[in-house]
Amino acid sequence: MKDRFGRGINYIRVSVTDRCNFRCIYCMPEEGVLPKRCGDILRFEEIARFLKVIAPLGVSAVRITGGEPLVRKGIVDFIKMLREIPEIRDISMTTNGSLLSGIAAELKKAGLDRVNISLDSLNPEKFRRMTRGGNLKDVLDGIKAALENDLSPVKINCVVVKGFNDDEVADFARLTIDNPLTVRFIELMPVGEAAKEKMEMVSQDRITRLLGMKLESVKYEEKGEGPAAYFKIPGAKGYVGFISSISHHFCARCNRLRLTADGKLKPCLDSEDEIDVKTLLRRRAADEELRRIFIEALAKKPAGHKMNVVPFERTKRNMCQIGG
Ligand code: GTP
Ligand code: 5AD
Ligand code: SF4
Repeated sequence: MKDRFGRGINYIRVSVTDRCNFRCIYCMPEEGVLPKRCGDILRFEEIARFLKVIAPLGVSAVRITGGEPLVRKGIVDFIKMLREIPEIRDISMTTNGSLLSGIAAELKKAGLDRVNISLDSLNPEKFRRMTRGGNLKDVLDGIKAALENDLSPVKINCVVVKGFNDDEVADFARLTIDNPLTVRFIELMPVGEAAKEKMEMVSQDRITRLLGMKLESVKYEEKGEGPAAYFKIPGAKGYVGFISSISHHFCARCNRLRLTADGKLKPCLDSEDEIDVKTLLRRRAADEELRRIFIEALAKKPAGHKMNVVPFERTKRNMCQIGG
């Protein structure tokens, strides 16, 4: 399936909740977001139906996001529903990892292939500050459980925020020496809180300088549908990656659409266009109609984001309401 710029689209990010048990400083306001009412959120059966209908158009990878997907009840059964869709080969999840250790085995058994775990500090105090209350140990246990249950490749997402955790990048990179982990440094995008609070991103070039270690460019053979560029510390077990939305604009390779928890298709992380799917699902629209709305959203996919153009138009949603 190609969009109007010839990009192959095979991947959908599905946010299953805008709630989260953390409130990371760049993602959520201190007071949290007003959670959507239950009836405003798509039921798992509705999402599964939609994905089943659109998968034959060429969607072969689904990433479950949030908020924090593991705070939503019924997530294991939802994964089972997705696993029954033959066209979907790759089912992944982005999680803050804090609830993972208790459920990793069940998720794997249900059919989850792999997880990306957000982790911005290796210092318990700083971690608590950045997540506004999170317990680092829970996340480290989650990472361990992900490795033990082969939710692999296990990727660590580290959003680098100037003055908060840029002093820790070398410690993060060193995790890859003895562990089969992929640590990815993410340039902070000016969305929601990050924009409102005027937090400063740290560029890939700057992080590379801060790392001060030799990195060799590698072709990352393992599964990955996203925009990261991958490197290796020579001899290390794992990989170091960069997701550099601002300094290395990668939209020309974009392969994805998003579905929000409240049932809107978003053609791009950074677009105001939202195409309502919930109404169609609630009135039991025919499969053809659902496929038509997906193609309509695809047609609205812009060439790229405008986040590195100043001033750019900021999306109204916080990141936890988009799904990253
Ligand atoms: P893989 O399939 O494992 O490569 O996943 P991914 O990197 O696409 O997903 P993940 O949820 O782990 O996201 C990592 C970072 O990439 C987050 O900061 C996301 O906000 C960001 N990201 C994901 N998709 C896009 C996108 O389409 N555009 C931009 N600018 N950033 C994105
Ligand atoms: N810029 C970049 N990444 C972000 N994430 C959340 N907010 C931002 C932002 N403003 C990351 C989270 C998580 C993923 C879904 O998106 O840390 O790893
Ligand atoms: Fe929760 Fe992830 Fe947002 Fe942090 S970045 S508040 S873990 S949704």
